[in-house]
Amino acid sequence: MGRRYTSYLSRRFSLYTLRKATLSQELLLGIETSCDETAAAVVGDCGSGIARIKSNIIYSQRSEHTEYGGVVPEIAARVHIDTLFPVIEQALANANLSMADLSAIAATCGPGLIGGVIVGSLAAKTLAFINKKPFIAINHLAAHAQVCRLSDPIEFPYLLLLISGGHCQFLEVFDIDKYKLIGSTLDDSAGEVFDKIARILQITGGGAALEKLALDGDPLRFHFSIPLKDRDTCDMSFSGLKTAFRLLIQRLQPLSWQDKRDVAACLQKSIANALVDKTQKAFLMASQEIQQAKVLVVSGGVAANHIIRLDIASLCEKYGFTPFFPPLSLCTDNAVMVAWLGLEKFKRGDISDLAFPPRPKWSLSW
Ligand code: KG4
Ligand code: ZN
Repeated sequence: MGRRYTSYLSRRFSLYTLRKATLSQELLLGIETSCDETAAAVVGDCGSGIARIKSNIIYSQRSEHTEYGGVVPEIAARVHIDTLFPVIEQALANANLSMADLSAIAATCGPGLIGGVIVGSLAAKTLAFINKKPFIAINHLAAHAQVCRLSDPIEFPYLLLLISGGHCQFLEVFDIDKYKLIGSTLDDSAGEVFDKIARILQITGGGAALEKLALDGDPLRFHFSIPLKDRDTCDMSFSGLKTAFRLLIQRLQPLSWQDKRDVAACLQKSIANALVDKTQKAFLMASQEIQQAKVLVVSGGVAANHIIRLDIASLCEKYGFTPFFPPLSLCTDNAVMVAWLGLEKFKRGDISDLAFPPRPKWSLSW
């Protein structure tokens, strides 16, 4: 299909959708396949600007990857192929809808594991093409960044701490497509460290499982200093902590269950301390608009952690910032956030070309 033809389709859809947007309830199907979750969801706009989650289906591929000690990109792509259409069918069935009822179809087009991104985005484009619906390309990080606005009436601008398995960044968020990066990890993300240490401890389930294990652990048994504490930037570093905990586990061999609990509790506290230290610096370094708005949104999988939430919330209280965290089910990868951002874009007539390329890397910042 020529680029000119797909551009024509996109233009036609824009006009059609802009006209329709004011008339009836808009329903967006979202598709997420950028890592090891195969997800589809329907989000609807009830007309008064209030969005409702109509369905939210997630197939976690965790068991397919467990024996390899991490996500295997090719296996992930193949499992997305096997499971995506049943997941989409279930999302539509749970919402009691058919393809014809949808206003548009949105899919994550990056950043992420490219095999999975190709599967999800091509499925969405194909469904859009066959059913004559607009297609909307979504940046996975933007979806994490915006999903809080589905559950809370948050105005722009706000400061965002995005903490997931693949990313760890401070961004100033000015609109659904306007971001300024002010700090980032120099090496590993916080989620990677949770995942790596969980694997070394032979605990399946990554950060969420470590959080449970930490409930009966002593967070003060081992002490590690905060990475980059002396630097006046909100750049972060977690690889030192990862190595320190790996060496600690080696020293403690053979580990009792209580040792594992204590290690999990100390790791969680060390990561929380590092994030609090850098968030404090981000408050001071942020632009005047952010300093005035005084709103912090924390999102991404690691934002599901209760100790991290509590510690960041009490820092916010000290600095007069209002913290927002997405509901737990919307912190880790899901398609609701894709459908929600798709809905926002759709209402603005921001429709994508069917030739939109899948992107393994896709920065949010200008
Ligand atoms: O946002 P996400 O689902 O995927 C990426 O976009 O990367 O984040 C996944 C990360 C994993 O590293 C996982 O271990 C971590 O979020 N995570 C947690 C918790 N739940 C998920 N880390 C700490 N505590 C949790 N409760
Ligand atoms: Zn994610």
